[in-house]
Amino acid sequence: MSQRYLILSTSLRPNSRSHTLALEAAEHLKAQGIEAEIVDLREHTLPLCDGGACYGDPAVNEFKAKLIEADGYLIATPIYNFDGNSALKNAIELTGKDVWTSKVVGFLAAAGGRGSYMSLSGLTLSLMLDFRTFILPRFVYVTGEDFDEDGSMSEEVKERVGEITSELIRVTSALRSE
Ligand SMILES: Cc1cc2nc3c(=O)[nH]c(=O)nc-3n(C[C@H](O)[C@H](O)[C@H](O)COP(=O)(O)O)c2cc1C
Repeated sequence: MSQRYLILSTSLRPNSRSHTLALEAAEHLKAQGIEAEIVDLREHTLPLCDGGACYGDPAVNEFKAKLIEADGYLIATPIYNFDGNSALKNAIELTGKDVWTSKVVGFLAAAGGRGSYMSLSGLTLSLMLDFRTFILPRFVYVTGEDFDEDGSMSEEVKERVGEITSELIRVTSALRSE
């Protein structure tokens, strides 16, 4: 059975480093014969989740329909205030259990410093407990030091993105073959 993969990129910043990680992950998937769509939140005008009317918004339904098709995901996010950014949290609130239940999710995170390395713990725990999401036990976490002045990432980071991409395929395929 063939699996579908999707990369959700949640930074709203023009020169986003986490988006660069998303592009790199897409290249790794492509090298393995997998075309994975990147869903870029900069291209979606989503309402803030109000727990009610937002669920009838056509933009939310279109966004959710895109996400729901996949089996395995990479989420590329900036670290804001020791967490993923609020655009990511909002996207999860808008899509909820229909999208995330029992799916496989890996994280690609861009931060300002090394000290926030554990900052996705709360979000990943919530996905695991709320939706039984399978979180890959390997994150790619980068800071500005991992990029050159021209914005290109180090070979070591490319390798780490390759590793998490392979792990995404391995775990998703194993779980979906049940
Ligand atoms: C509102 C805000 C909060 C931030 N909080 C943190 C933080 O808690 N820890 C950290 O390491 N970096 C923090 N940063 C720095 C960003 O993680 C960093 O700029 C990162 O590159 C942003 O991701 P992006 O390049 O994909 O947009 C913060 C930046 C902003 C704007």
